[in-house]
Amino acid sequence: MTDAQAIDALGWERRTFPPSEAFKQNALVSDTSMYDDGAADYEGFWARQAADLLTWSKDWTTTCDWKLPAAQWFVGGELNVSYNCLDRHVLAGRGDKVAFHFEGEPGDTRTITYADLLDETQRFANVLKSLGIVKGDRVNIYMPMIPEAAIAMLACARIGAAHSVVFGGFSALSLTDRINDAEAKLLITADGGWRRGEVFPLKQTADEALLHTPTITDVVVVRRGGNEVSMQDGRDHWYHELMATADPVCPAEPMDSEQLLFLLYTSGTTGRPKGIMHTSGGYLTQVAFTHKYVFDLHPETDVFWCTADVGWITGHSYIVYGPLANGATQVMYEGVPNFPGNDRMWQIIEKYGVTIFYTAPTAIRTFMKWGAQEPAKHDLSSVRLLGSVGEPINPEAWMWYQEHIGGGRCPVVDTWWQTETGAIMISPLPGATTTKPGSATFALPGIGTELVDENGEHVEHGGGYLTLTQPWPAMLRGIWGDPERYHETYWTRFPGRYFAGDGAKLDDDGYLWLLGRVDDVMNVSGHRISTTEVESALVSHPAVAEAAVVGANDPTTGQAIIAYVTLRGGAEVDEQVLRNHVGTEIGSIAKPKAIYFTPDLPKTRSGKIMRRLLRDVAEGRNLGDTTTLADASVVSELQRRASEVPPED
Ligand code: WT7
Repeated sequence: MTDAQAIDALGWERRTFPPSEAFKQNALVSDTSMYDDGAADYEGFWARQAADLLTWSKDWTTTCDWKLPAAQWFVGGELNVSYNCLDRHVLAGRGDKVAFHFEGEPGDTRTITYADLLDETQRFANVLKSLGIVKGDRVNIYMPMIPEAAIAMLACARIGAAHSVVFGGFSALSLTDRINDAEAKLLITADGGWRRGEVFPLKQTADEALLHTPTITDVVVVRRGGNEVSMQDGRDHWYHELMATADPVCPAEPMDSEQLLFLLYTSGTTGRPKGIMHTSGGYLTQVAFTHKYVFDLHPETDVFWCTADVGWITGHSYIVYGPLANGATQVMYEGVPNFPGNDRMWQIIEKYGVTIFYTAPTAIRTFMKWGAQEPAKHDLSSVRLLGSVGEPINPEAWMWYQEHIGGGRCPVVDTWWQTETGAIMISPLPGATTTKPGSATFALPGIGTELVDENGEHVEHGGGYLTLTQPWPAMLRGIWGDPERYHETYWTRFPGRYFAGDGAKLDDDGYLWLLGRVDDVMNVSGHRISTTEVESALVSHPAVAEAAVVGANDPTTGQAIIAYVTLRGGAEVDEQVLRNHVGTEIGSIAKPKAIYFTPDLPKTRSGKIMRRLLRDVAEGRNLGDTTTLADASVVSELQRRASEVPPED
């Protein structure tokens, strides 16, 4: 964990940024009364938000039914998520409002109104039905960042099928595992998508995955890349062909508030990814609430742009469900930030008049490296609010963002949350909160957090473990197929409360400073990858006997994956071959930045790998206590190698 860094930050980071009078004047929230409401009665608070922000077909009878670790919100209530995201806006006369300004990487554009989105969603919902998908089924989605990804998700929601989106950068093996765990019947994919000026062959990867997925009966393929694909007769269908003959009307059927909306797989401390379960009423309430108030959304005038991929929770909550429930106008961009030039993001902001921009610290640090002259080429005066998510943002990056993208006039909201929390939990309210660069500030209204020590005792000041003390509407409802693991993973470390896996500090003013993970989960460019997962991938290569993986601080990606590998007797293998092997097993995001070969790993006498030492070595620190090592010479040898072979940039 990045403890030392944050202690540093606390040492010198004293700048404060109160909201400007100009911002306050138009802000939805400009005082602290909402916090009092949330604290007085959190259930009542969320019930008021659910009633205010969403349209229900049937009222609930119980706001929250909480029997640790099982929560149900708005019990007995019924609503349709896609109706809330689409129909009600169109019915209210806002059908012509732009839902998405889509910008393809090659520069092609599409303007999609709420009426368009509703039309496509209804047709596609009928396509799903015609392929035998019924309420309760799981549908896998493996797509580039194109509007059809959102349409597919909304169409599933419309008929009560749960989607399971797998990020398009994951490997065939990862896709196979996730399809099989969810027992999905249908896969929705595309021929390919654009990335850095080239088409990546998504369907080809999907075909590999589909060799081992007995539950999949049909595959729908969106044409995007124009690349050649093979279509299997009877199984594979072109999206545009099915849509051409689909019935245009598919009424939104009311669903139970606790109807499973989606699964999203995420890494934990052990090898197998967890299918995080999110349901309908509570999830939509909190994503709509946070999208509205954290981003101070004025749907009539704002243009919101969240740069995440729909394959991650941020894309689910702040591209699809939150913004659409609130009737927002958004930008959706398909490609990378440096194609064709390093100013692509700023060019897009200028082109569409983006007012609210939400991205990750790793991206901000990359923009810093590319230089302030890039944003300076464009008129960014439309921007009025900036957001950050995914990992701790260092004060320097926060300041650069505020100055060079926000022109010194925009509030910056650092938002802490997780796949499991479903929606933002800790963040400033931009019209009410005085921010400090690098701090996510306070828990939102209606959310309970507490820092505790090793023994679960309250921490008033200084470092501790971040826990959540009460249920919240968008909380995960479980791990698909593994209720025991759900209880064990989140609710047993500190009995009675949820443990998020993160460390944090409280300063003199009660501000929270998130410090990163305290478990064996790395955070690389805002993506969670478990050390065990990468180790298993390495060990699955025939040349590898043993592997230890650690996350080392990295100036751009937050953490970088460093692997220490012991080969089988007589075996030889190139570092690049092993990196690619991990890419094949998990996906490119999990490829180690550096691999060090070593005849032995540092172990305690009881045989436990000493990761702390390996992290110290990887980060070039002086080693602390090594007396518990079985063989101390192993470490000095590793240190010698680390200083010889600097990790590539
Ligand atoms: C982990 C969750 C939430 C969507 C993206 C990541 C880290 C997230 C922050 C932040 C410090 C943060 C935590 C958390 N994290 N946001 N603002 N400051 N750390 O979702 O893949 O589920 O990862 O990301 O370590 O536990 P995720």
